[in-house]
Amino acid sequence: MSATEDIPTTSSIGRDTPRVEGPVKVTGKAQYTSDFHFPGLLYAVPVGATIANGRILELDTASAEKMPGVRAIFHRANIGKIFRSTLQANFQGVCEERRPPFEDDIIRYYGQYIALAVADTFETAKAAADAVRATYAAEKPNVETHLEADDDPDEVDTTFGPRHRLDSQRGDVDAAFASAPVKLDQTYVTPSETHNPLETHATTAMWDGAMLTLYESSQGVVNLRNVLAQMFDLPNENVRVITKFVGSGFGSKLWPWTLCPLAAAAARQLGRPVRLVLPRKMMFHAVGHRPRTQQRVRIGATPEGKLISLQHDYIYQRSMLDAHHEDCGEATPFHYSVPNLRVTFGRAKRNIGGGADMRGPGAVPGLYATESAMNEMAYQLKIDPVKFRIINEPKIDEGLGLPFSSRHLLECFELGTEKFGWSQRTPQVGSMKRDGVTLGWGMAGCAWIAARFPAAATVELRDNGTVRVACATQDIGTGTYTNLAQLASHRTGVPLDKVEVALGDTSLPEGPTSGGSLATPSIVPAVLAAADNAIASLMTIAKGTTGSRFENRQPDDLAFNDGVIFVKADGPANGVPFHEILRRANLQLATGSGKAEATFGNPKPKFSTHSFGCHFAEVTWQPEIARLRVSRVVTVIDAGKILNTLAGRNQIQGAVVMGIGMALLEHTSYDPQNGAPINSSLADYIVAVNADAPPIDVYFLDYPDKEINEVGARGIGEIGLAGIAAAITDAVHHATGVRVRELPVKIENLLA
Ligand code: MOS
Repeated sequence: MSATEDIPTTSSIGRDTPRVEGPVKVTGKAQYTSDFHFPGLLYAVPVGATIANGRILELDTASAEKMPGVRAIFHRANIGKIFRSTLQANFQGVCEERRPPFEDDIIRYYGQYIALAVADTFETAKAAADAVRATYAAEKPNVETHLEADDDPDEVDTTFGPRHRLDSQRGDVDAAFASAPVKLDQTYVTPSETHNPLETHATTAMWDGAMLTLYESSQGVVNLRNVLAQMFDLPNENVRVITKFVGSGFGSKLWPWTLCPLAAAAARQLGRPVRLVLPRKMMFHAVGHRPRTQQRVRIGATPEGKLISLQHDYIYQRSMLDAHHEDCGEATPFHYSVPNLRVTFGRAKRNIGGGADMRGPGAVPGLYATESAMNEMAYQLKIDPVKFRIINEPKIDEGLGLPFSSRHLLECFELGTEKFGWSQRTPQVGSMKRDGVTLGWGMAGCAWIAARFPAAATVELRDNGTVRVACATQDIGTGTYTNLAQLASHRTGVPLDKVEVALGDTSLPEGPTSGGSLATPSIVPAVLAAADNAIASLMTIAKGTTGSRFENRQPDDLAFNDGVIFVKADGPANGVPFHEILRRANLQLATGSGKAEATFGNPKPKFSTHSFGCHFAEVTWQPEIARLRVSRVVTVIDAGKILNTLAGRNQIQGAVVMGIGMALLEHTSYDPQNGAPINSSLADYIVAVNADAPPIDVYFLDYPDKEINEVGARGIGEIGLAGIAAAITDAVHHATGVRVRELPVKIENLLA
């Protein structure tokens, strides 16, 4: 149980571990939010504004209210008091749209909720919502795609607090760029993207006196509770949020959206449970999106390929209401060794719903730009892009002036080039063919933050030989149930099938939000400490039980291994299983609690903590029929110790598929006339699916990062999406000779 113990061969950690929740999912027993039923349940359907800028002059609810089965049409005059929420310590109280629903009559974006129909059935509620008539004073919305930075102050407020728009600076970037022998100055654009998890947002709210319970599709039950408690003027302990299974979120469910207080307010007024499930179309309106970005990258280099200067100036779109910060420069200051650097940002307000974190927020669009620029510069210098990166590999994080806790990017390149066969690449455009089609090969590096949120957990050893681990985090489909079981099993020696996992309920010890790829590293120390404390409690029980073999032993005499207590001197063969000790003591269980502090947001870190990796992508190009396909990807990730290599590879493969969508398919278009998202359906908003997925080979390096936690596990939810679009667009250039600097790559870009 030392802090640096090696992982025993009997542990499931670091191995392919099928998901413990797999059987309940594939047999349909897993309950997603809208699967919970309650007596007297009512159904709510929001009414969205059909303008994107202006104000409501009149709301006509009369015919909707008269429809049989309609319980109420809520709007500003009858929804009741809803307060604003505010940021709290430790990334709690986070919300991307602070304005309570219906707070005023001003419309800032298309689809903003203006009313809520509640009825006995979903169909009636939908019909009633459709029957609500609004009259507006409409103005022309601003959904302009070209971004010019607004006249903001140097320091601006963002969702997570103030940020200086001069984000990072060292050396004299202007002079260095001016005198650099080789220069690159390009602008890269990423579009608005809309999260489209399979499960749309769902919430069911019910009141019992002053107790509010919410069944919610949430990536952060504790934060959601804290925000809702503020909005309804309740102590935290009066709000309970339950999220047992989530049909994914990609960041859209990280922070609460206005549908949630709407359901709660409606349930309060009607004294009945109210369920609100968003139709797919409304996923494009008021539950976040990845904001459009426009990023100018300037690089100065020597002819030998040494970076002299790097400048990254980016602008992103934001809504009229919120201050979501799209942190495109997150990886820029540390990713390469360069003496002169500047990162700045600007923001441009648009009549579009709130921006939000979407898988790899900031760094994903950011690394698309900077890694594309690195590839273009390598091409200009006639240096292999891998070699160009090796030449500029930093020894430390030059932005923070701190050593990396663990960075093995060069080894990622080594393994990736070998597995992909990169040495066979001929750099001339269109020079590689296979089976009559043109091949393009491209690559890019990637990085993502590694840190911990605060976390608490409990572990119970029970008299039937099972273990229960509990933590108010949630599994958004990424494998958290299994990770919790693995950690409890690892420390207690109880096999996985005897470990029960309780999560997704704020009545459990407070756990991390499933965001920033931070949940997994955060739960490790909390669960291990909880298990240790449960074992310590068990030993105390063993020593104190009359007639126990361990009665009156000194604490140091005893040891616990693989579920068995034994006297060290006698060895484990003469040990007693823990459940026998509990039975002898007439105890049902021995409990331990554990908690660990946050490292995320630490103002004085000792190390720069990140994960790293690289992608190698192959595209095939058939100019005769204008067909472009991603045909092969090799990805290597350095993310510390991988708790579950099976779910871990799957996680990276999924991110790569999403990256194919980012590079070639995904974008949300807004109608310049009325500001509506035009392609607001899964028929028109195209995401990459299995049919688009080529063979994707994922490799993990295995360097535990003990700065993060004692197992050395960093998170892997997001890093797989970073860099992949730049690798694909470079492969597109290699095949076609066309540089596409605005995503997604469209076929018309490639037609000469
Ligand atoms: Mo992720 S955007 O932190 O859900």
